[in-house]
Amino acid sequence: ETRSFPREEGLDNTLNVLKEGYLYITNRAIGFQSNLFETRLLGEKAICMRGEEAAQLFYDNKKFVREGAAPKRVLKTLFGENGVQTLDGEEHHHRKAMFMSLMSREGLQKIREITSKHWGLAVGRWETKKEIEIYEESQELLCRIACEWAGVPLAIDEVKEKSEWLGAMIEATAAIGVAHMKGKRARSKAEKWITGLVEEVREGKIHPAEDTALYTFSWHRDLTGELLDPETASVEVLNIIRPIVAVSIYVTFTALAVIQQPEEREKLASGDETYLQNFVQEVRRFYPFFPFSGARVKEDFTWQGYEFKKGELTLLDLYGTNHHPDLWDQPEQFRPDRFKDWRGTPFNFIPQGGGDYDTGHRCAGEFITIEIMKESLDYLANKMSYEIPEQDFSYSFNDIPSLPHSNIVLKNVRSK
Ligand code: HEM
Repeated sequence: ETRSFPREEGLDNTLNVLKEGYLYITNRAIGFQSNLFETRLLGEKAICMRGEEAAQLFYDNKKFVREGAAPKRVLKTLFGENGVQTLDGEEHHHRKAMFMSLMSREGLQKIREITSKHWGLAVGRWETKKEIEIYEESQELLCRIACEWAGVPLAIDEVKEKSEWLGAMIEATAAIGVAHMKGKRARSKAEKWITGLVEEVREGKIHPAEDTALYTFSWHRDLTGELLDPETASVEVLNIIRPIVAVSIYVTFTALAVIQQPEEREKLASGDETYLQNFVQEVRRFYPFFPFSGARVKEDFTWQGYEFKKGELTLLDLYGTNHHPDLWDQPEQFRPDRFKDWRGTPFNFIPQGGGDYDTGHRCAGEFITIEIMKESLDYLANKMSYEIPEQDFSYSFNDIPSLPHSNIVLKNVRSK
């Protein structure tokens, strides 16, 4: 027996998404009393879903594809064209393996060490300043970390410019108007910069270490045995360094949590890895970052009585799944200890997507994100002292990406 989707009225509800942001799907799911519903977005029918079962469906490669799923304006700013996000099937699997080859135990250990080194240096620089802004400073800090880990040469006088380009691409995610144009220009400059480096690697003019992204992607061969064209290799290197810089958003929310959760902060004093881990997991669950992921129906199918038609745009609510009352006890409380005896599945905790890393589109950088965040948390909670001036800690659910409005200002920073 088939059922019809609960449907949001209106010719186009894109403005509601912009108005309600992270809560757009949750708000309607509550009203419809349904984990899935139908609406119209960007001029077409769209199915929105949240929850563990919906995630399991969404990450079934037999049912959904990514080709044509990301809007052009996102490809021109955040993702880049012909990158791994847009591929399906064998081609995706092969390209994804290129990314995953960097995420070895050694790769993770290396990014942790690099992160620690650069935090130490940054705190040293901050000691000479009256106050600093965590969001801006962590973007620069992460730009240094990203480039060092990826084998991308970065002179000291380039740090500001490059981190601004990468930041503009991230801030353009859901932007229209000026911020969108800024993101577009930043992407085109950044792509040229990295394309040049890929060419220099191939010409033997620079020699990044073999375990780096710049080296690996410059020499990667596709399924037909060809090197990637330099523009695509550049898009993929940027798919490493841009999201590492984006971890600045999580670092800023981590700082907020450290400031606002003194009892939880106390538990971190021993530097115990498990406490750091659980705190970081809760930051990734609790705060808004990546709102939803999109795909298109591969072939007609029926699921729980609902008919999905080939080509239909389908959005999975990542934020809403991480706050779903069926999955989380008191989801609107910040409680790292919930991760103590937590039974995770690939579909119930999905801040960076769900499903499988190798065959699906789950974030390639999830483990390095966690490593970077644990080290950053250890600094913010244990390895530095600072004063916290009056400021606006609020953040808004209709800004995508969202950030505490003050960007977190710290005064009189000293290393401990
Ligand atoms: C994909 C989130 C950090 C590399 C994704 C997806 C999300 C996401 C939601 C898409 C999942 C899907 O559509 O199914 C995040 C967040 C991060 C982060 C919130 C925190 C800053 C990173 C880092 C890297 C990275 C540090 C690399 C070093 C990628 C790549 C993909 C991806 C390459 C595409 C995977 C594919 O299409 O197969 N990420 N990510 N991300 N992420 Fe991340």
